[in-house]
Amino acid sequence: MSTSILLCCSFSFLLIYSFSTPSTATIHSNETDRLALLAIKSQLHDPLGAISSWNNSVPLCLWTGVSCGRRHQRVTVLDLRNQSIGGNLSPFIGNLSFLRSINLGDNNFYGDIPNEVSLLFRLEILILANNSFSGTIPKNLSHCPNLIQFHAYRNSLQGEIPPEIGNLLKLEILYFSENHLTGQLPSSIGNLSSLLQLDVGLNSLSGTIPYSLGRLRSLFYLNLGGNNISGNLSSTVTRLVLGDNQIYGSIPPGIGNLVNLEALSMEKNQISGTIPHDIGKLKMLEALYLDENSLRGSIPASIGILPQQILGITTLSIGLDLSNNLLSGSFPSQLGNLKTLLVLYISGNRRSAQNTSSMLQMDELFPMVSYAELRRATDDFSSSNMIGQGSYGLVYKGTFGEKRTLVAVKVINLQEKGGSRSFISECQALRNIRHRNLVGIVTVCSSIDSKGADFKALIYEYMENGSLEEWLHQNKDQLDASNLSLFQRLNIAIDVACAVEYLHHHCEPPIVHGDLKPCNVLLDQDMVAHVGDFGLSKFLSDTAPETQSSSIGIRGTVGYVAPEYGMGSEVSMPGDVYSLGILLLEMFTGKRPIDSMFTDGLTLHEFAKMGLPERLWDIVEPSLLLEASSGNNNVEKFARRSGEGRVRTEECLVGVLGIGVVCSMESPAERMEMTDVVAKLCGVRENFLGRRI
Ligand SMILES: *[C@@H]1O[C@H](CO)[C@@H](O)[C@H](O)[C@H]1NC(C)=O
Ligand SMILES: *[C@@H]1O[C@H](CO)[C@@H](O)[C@H](O)[C@H]1NC(C)=O
Ligand SMILES: *[C@@H]1O[C@H](CO)[C@@H](O)[C@H](O)[C@H]1NC(C)=O
Ligand SMILES: *[C@@H]1O[C@H](CO)[C@@H](O)[C@H](O)[C@H]1NC(C)=O
Ligand SMILES: *[C@@H]1O[C@H](CO)[C@@H](O)[C@H](O)[C@H]1NC(C)=O
Ligand SMILES: *[C@@H]1O[C@H](CO)[C@@H](O)[C@H](O)[C@H]1NC(C)=O
Ligand SMILES: *[C@@H]1O[C@H](CO)[C@@H](O)[C@H](O)[C@H]1NC(C)=O
Ligand SMILES: *[C@@H]1O[C@H](CO)[C@@H](O)[C@H](O)[C@H]1NC(C)=O
Ligand SMILES: *[C@@H]1O[C@H](CO)[C@@H](O)[C@H](O)[C@H]1NC(C)=O
Ligand SMILES: *[C@@H]1O[C@H](CO)[C@@H](O)[C@H](O)[C@H]1NC(C)=O
Ligand SMILES: *[C@@H]1O[C@H](CO)[C@@H](O)[C@H](O)[C@H]1NC(C)=O
Ligand SMILES: *[C@@H]1O[C@H](CO)[C@@H](O)[C@H](O)[C@H]1NC(C)=O
Repeated sequence: MSTSILLCCSFSFLLIYSFSTPSTATIHSNETDRLALLAIKSQLHDPLGAISSWNNSVPLCLWTGVSCGRRHQRVTVLDLRNQSIGGNLSPFIGNLSFLRSINLGDNNFYGDIPNEVSLLFRLEILILANNSFSGTIPKNLSHCPNLIQFHAYRNSLQGEIPPEIGNLLKLEILYFSENHLTGQLPSSIGNLSSLLQLDVGLNSLSGTIPYSLGRLRSLFYLNLGGNNISGNLSSTVTRLVLGDNQIYGSIPPGIGNLVNLEALSMEKNQISGTIPHDIGKLKMLEALYLDENSLRGSIPASIGILPQQILGITTLSIGLDLSNNLLSGSFPSQLGNLKTLLVLYISGNRRSAQNTSSMLQMDELFPMVSYAELRRATDDFSSSNMIGQGSYGLVYKGTFGEKRTLVAVKVINLQEKGGSRSFISECQALRNIRHRNLVGIVTVCSSIDSKGADFKALIYEYMENGSLEEWLHQNKDQLDASNLSLFQRLNIAIDVACAVEYLHHHCEPPIVHGDLKPCNVLLDQDMVAHVGDFGLSKFLSDTAPETQSSSIGIRGTVGYVAPEYGMGSEVSMPGDVYSLGILLLEMFTGKRPIDSMFTDGLTLHEFAKMGLPERLWDIVEPSLLLEASSGNNNVEKFARRSGEGRVRTEECLVGVLGIGVVCSMESPAERMEMTDVVAKLCGVRENFLGRRI
């Protein structure tokens, strides 16, 4: 399901440009897929009847574990995880040429991984873990240039890891642990520049650690344990992430030999002993996480709870977390030397007198800029460069570096209650997420301003065309509302919905944005919408104690904030859906939810509902009415050809306003899920373009 939606989103622009060329997808029929799946089934034992629906009386795309592309109706996802299915995987798998994702994890597959898998050039995800596959890893898998994740842990694979694996430049996750692999770790692994996680633990690998591993700048999880690999990590390792394990013993004194170490995370283990003096040799260290261990300090009271040697590391700038240990003493004055420290968390040693701030685990570190650089970039934060106001701070336009790169700089107002927390929320939310419809973060700044006060700022990509708010309501003289056509609005709506759907359903843990509204929707030079301002966002799995989340309160923005928040409900995905619903209604009616007409129980939601479907033209933005008769855009002219234009325009408006109405229902349970919102909005657009089958 979700894959077909992604397809829909990414294909939408393609569609516009391919009106005259017939779709090639349907020339090869889905019959090939059907025969391939039946051939695969014929070799399997299926004790639970998991794939009994794979028969001639059920259409292919409704078969269990099978998902098809929305338009071309070819098989894109095969998900048979944990179904007790056993047997050989047939080479016919290679005929499913539209497959993007295979998950056969947690079954009883055995025999070879068929070489034909390497014919699947669209494949992005291949999960074969927890089976009994044997034989070797097919070297021709390197022909799947789009492969992002390959999980083959807990099988009986033998032989060497093929060096060809180094060609999979999009690979982010590679798990081969718990097999019988032998030979060396190929040095070509150092070519996998996108690699985030590499686990080859518990095999029979030997030889030395390839020097090239040091090139993997994004790698944050590396497990080579349980092999017979030797070598000198000193010069290759830049990050050592061992957090949240069952590691006993002390921090090895040799740690100081890892001279290029930038991040050391050993939090949530059972590490005891003291922090070795050696650690002071790590001149490149930027983050040190040792929290939730059993470290003890035999530290002179004059120095404080932190060992002197850590304080000597002047580059330590991102995070230092020593909380929940058994360290003792008082707060050390030397900590003041760490001018660029972003977050300090030393509570939980709670015996110490403590000065705690919220914890920020920066596994993936942003490069930092200095206060001076930002001041230069924004012409001393001059009012002429002020371009907006976000949650907890003003936003300035800035120009950076020799290339004169434009950026937007949000300076956090640390005086405002919750300001500091919002900085952390936003850093946390943005550090791992990337999506074409989110505003990208360039860097952060945590420093001291010219008066010696704390200074924190977030630096984002600059969005040429400002905020949706401006387009909908402001600067009427230059950009009146009629400049935003129905089709542009529809695309913006889909962009925003895709971004929220990504936050809710494709992030782990899911993220709730918490403050969706037109001024947080920014438009780039191609009028593609990007959702920004994560100052109120929240991770859903947050197990933070109640006090922490409620101390910032549920702020949101009047008019867009879901009614249940006012009654004390926790921030939730349906809350975002509500805000999105209001946003949709506003975009197409032109009315703000706080418009003066909305009194005496009349709300934007009721107003829109009233007009649907007969009195549509009483509720829609008047410029869209004009547009329906004149048209200022080729796509719409196209849609209007053959006299269907007006009908399509009306259907479009009824469709999108209807979605807005359902999303903004009073009761959270009656609202849609984002996955449905995206699918429905895409459907409205297809229909508008006359492309609905
Ligand atoms: C085909 O699959 C459907 C759905 O699982 C099932 O009800 C039906 O009995 C199957 N037909 C045959 C011939 O196996
Ligand atoms: C193949 O696709 C056609 C057209 O999209 C559809 O009518 C047919 O039911 C599909 N066949 C199977 C087996 O699903
Ligand atoms: C696998 O399926 C079994 C039985 O259907 C279930 O009890 C178990 O929780 C599932 N495991 C996972 C990891 O989903
Ligand atoms: C499907 O795969 C099998 C086995 O690899 C092969 O023999 C057959 O030619 C393929 N059929 C099509 C239509 O590609
Ligand atoms: C493999 O098994 C482990 C332990 O049962 C489980 O946690 C994991 O989710 C499984 N992985 C897959 C891909 O099935
Ligand atoms: C691997 O791919 C090459 C072409 O790149 C081909 O010649 C060879 O037959 C393939 N090997 C197997 C085992 O499929
Ligand atoms: C890939 O890695 C190998 C071995 O480290 C090296 O010889 C080769 O040049 C690399 N290729 C690319 C494209 O970087
Ligand atoms: C580990 O590798 C070394 C050579 O690097 C070899 O001498 C030794 O026998 C190996 N040990 C095992 C248990 O394979
Ligand atoms: C490992 O590398 C470091 C830095 O290159 C070097 O100082 C050290 O002597 C090396 N150790 C061994 C055992 O080769
Ligand atoms: C905590 O920090 C404040 C200001 O940063 C300082 O005035 C105070 O003395 C500190 N408390 C302790 C117990 O060190
Ligand atoms: C907005 O539309 C008006 C006329 O409809 C046009 O003159 C003006 O240039 C447009 N502005 C922009 C920024 O496109
Ligand atoms: C958006 O901004 C770019 C760059 O400033 C400009 O060229 C373009 O015309 C703008 N788009 C619209 C629709 O105004």
